[in-house]
Amino acid sequence: MSIIALIVAAGRGERAGQAGPKQYARLAGETVLARSIKALGASKRIDGILCVIHADDRALYDDAMKTLSPRLRKKLREPVTGGATRQHSVMAGLEALTESQCETVLIHDAARPFVSKKLIDRIIDAVPLTGAAVPTLPMIDTVKELDRSGFITKTPDRSRLRAVQTPQAFTFKLILGAHRALVDREMTDDASLVEALGGPVTPVDGERRNVKLTTPEDFAVAELNLTETVSAMGYDVHAFGEGDHVTLAGIKIPHTRGILAHSDGDVILHALCDAIFGAIGAGDIGQHFPPSDPQWKDAPSSTFVAQAIKLLKEQGGSLVNCDVTVLAEEPRIGKHRDAMIESLAGLTGLRKERIGLKATTTEKLGAVGRGEGLVAQVLCTLRLPREA
Ligand code: CTP
Ligand code: MG
Repeated sequence: MSIIALIVAAGRGERAGQAGPKQYARLAGETVLARSIKALGASKRIDGILCVIHADDRALYDDAMKTLSPRLRKKLREPVTGGATRQHSVMAGLEALTESQCETVLIHDAARPFVSKKLIDRIIDAVPLTGAAVPTLPMIDTVKELDRSGFITKTPDRSRLRAVQTPQAFTFKLILGAHRALVDREMTDDASLVEALGGPVTPVDGERRNVKLTTPEDFAVAELNLTETVSAMGYDVHAFGEGDHVTLAGIKIPHTRGILAHSDGDVILHALCDAIFGAIGAGDIGQHFPPSDPQWKDAPSSTFVAQAIKLLKEQGGSLVNCDVTVLAEEPRIGKHRDAMIESLAGLTGLRKERIGLKATTTEKLGAVGRGEGLVAQVLCTLRLPREA
């Protein structure tokens, strides 16, 4: 006899404002669905996990599962296809479990990735009492009831009201019977079906952190909670050599000299790469693109930036701003500033207001002052996943 977690993930997330279905949106680099599976899988008491997914989402689902450990994958069953409403999706999941040895089922919204092990324990422990248990929270706000014309007519007694969450846990037979009996009556949670058939449902303490990610604001807050701010800097120098232009921030700037370098010698983009690599503890640009490797000869440095940003994203990070200082007597970059900022915005995905670009001479002091080369310094702020 076993305890199975049934995760419904077949909705379209229309209120969430994400690029696709919200359960596949990434928070600090990891999908909401994978986070929910990990949260439930963290409980040793759960023997198996079954996801109900939309018919169009198989590729998204397979991709999201890549971050699961082998141990967790073993618990995961082959997903089943959901229906047009949450209730139909739950029903599809329950029907798929009829042949299993499932005794207790925890029905959970994929959109609640922050459920804790303690809450899972509480909810499982409460099932034997009535066969049905739900996490609840006392109401913080006073609740009003509207009449048919939309005016407030009543204020229910707040002390007797509760907001409910998932996972809701049931003996398998009870909830399967309730879903089968009430398949035509649409309800917004599973406990409602048990209540409609006259069964008592046991409330247990829910958790404020166990939010259902519903709106764009929910996603913004969750991303902030899961990440922290990190600063990093990069620095690069190149000497002038033969040539008629220098490349800075991806823009060709005519000059009486060129740059001595293996690649295009773009000091700004090289310093930017080093800042990003520095922030994620990924060494420096020389390790990623060794000058000894012929494939980087005359390479546009935008390739290096794209690679650094890809690595940053894979680690769940994002850039917040970058602030560039160029040290050079010549060339003057003033009239190329807008184009350079535009180019940096394109390469980094940052909006122009989050990009600083300044240039200074060194008052004829040192190598830069003697016109032997130029220097760029880049300071970046980034958001990176907090330690779990
Ligand atoms: N769900 C489902 N099948 C549906 C509708 C919803 O499996 N036909 C799932 C969602 O994927 C979600 C949970 O039920 O994990 C709670 O629903 P909700 O938060 O309303 O998600 P969506 O329906 O996807 O969002 P929206 O209502 O904003 O479109
Ligand atoms: Mg919905």
